[in-house]
Amino acid sequence: MTPTPLLKVVPVSEPEFAEWSVHSEDFNVWYRDAHILNDINVRFPAKGITCIVGPSGSGKSTLIRSINRINDEVPGFLSRGSISFNGKDVYTDYKDLTILRTEIGMVFQKPCVFPKSISENVLFGVAKTRKLSRAERLILVEENLRAVSLWKEVSYRLDDSATSLSLGQQQRLCIARTLAVKPKILLLDEPTASVDPVSGRAIEELLLKLKKDYTILLVTHDLQQTKRIADHIVFLCDGEVIEQGDKAKMVTNPEHQKTKTYLSDSFCEC
Ligand SMILES: Nc1ncnc2c1ncn2[C@@H]1O[C@H](COP(=O)(O)OP(=O)(O)OP(=O)(O)O)[C@@H](O)[C@H]1O
Ligand SMILES: [Mg+2]
Repeated sequence: MTPTPLLKVVPVSEPEFAEWSVHSEDFNVWYRDAHILNDINVRFPAKGITCIVGPSGSGKSTLIRSINRINDEVPGFLSRGSISFNGKDVYTDYKDLTILRTEIGMVFQKPCVFPKSISENVLFGVAKTRKLSRAERLILVEENLRAVSLWKEVSYRLDDSATSLSLGQQQRLCIARTLAVKPKILLLDEPTASVDPVSGRAIEELLLKLKKDYTILLVTHDLQQTKRIADHIVFLCDGEVIEQGDKAKMVTNPEHQKTKTYLSDSFCEC
């Protein structure tokens, strides 16, 4: 008689649901009459970098801006379907959008520092949610500037205006400001597009360091960057997800010819 195995062997295929921190189901977006995103079903793994790629106008920014609901502010925006984050629907389970945007932080293409000191920029989001003692302020400023590898460069001039920093430094400061409110997810829309290549590489190194603790969704046109730092890729074309999956598979053995053409030649015939 064959003994009953004590442990059931489960074939390893895809990560369990809990490891997918954001996913959408049949998510659609319209801006007035224009249907921009069409039945988007995507899954973004937790604690890793997902690069969202695709031609200009394919809906990459619309997709990530829908995750923390900043698109709600666009006149004529309408959505259908769902986006879930750790089991909660971002459209129905978050009455307070400040909480949603604390949990899901965002960094834009152009560094958007406030005309305030470097310290005040780091503390901007946290100071809105609670009163900080002087000691707490010092700790938060140092901790978050260190997290983005900016501390050594600016520790002697924390009271200088943030606008005096280089663009690459300003972008890292924006990331520090976003991290200071302790988000779980970082949305980055082409964060290296307006900085010089050296600063761009510094930001890539930073994202590689941060992915141990954060779920990072990065929109990028830079396919070399995608190949360097992505764990997972979502390829969008004309408002549809053509393919998504593990980077190695998408780059070396994609299922669709369109993916192969786009990832090798930046060209899409959609
Ligand atoms: N506020 C808006 N109102 C109306 N249409 C918009 C708005 N924002 C974007 N769109 C349209 O939605 C479509 C998708 O735009 P989106 O910005 O999401 O594309 P993208 O993939 O991020 O492009 P890019 O790579 O150029 O940044 C485009 O046709 C764009 O013109
Ligand atoms: Mg965009």
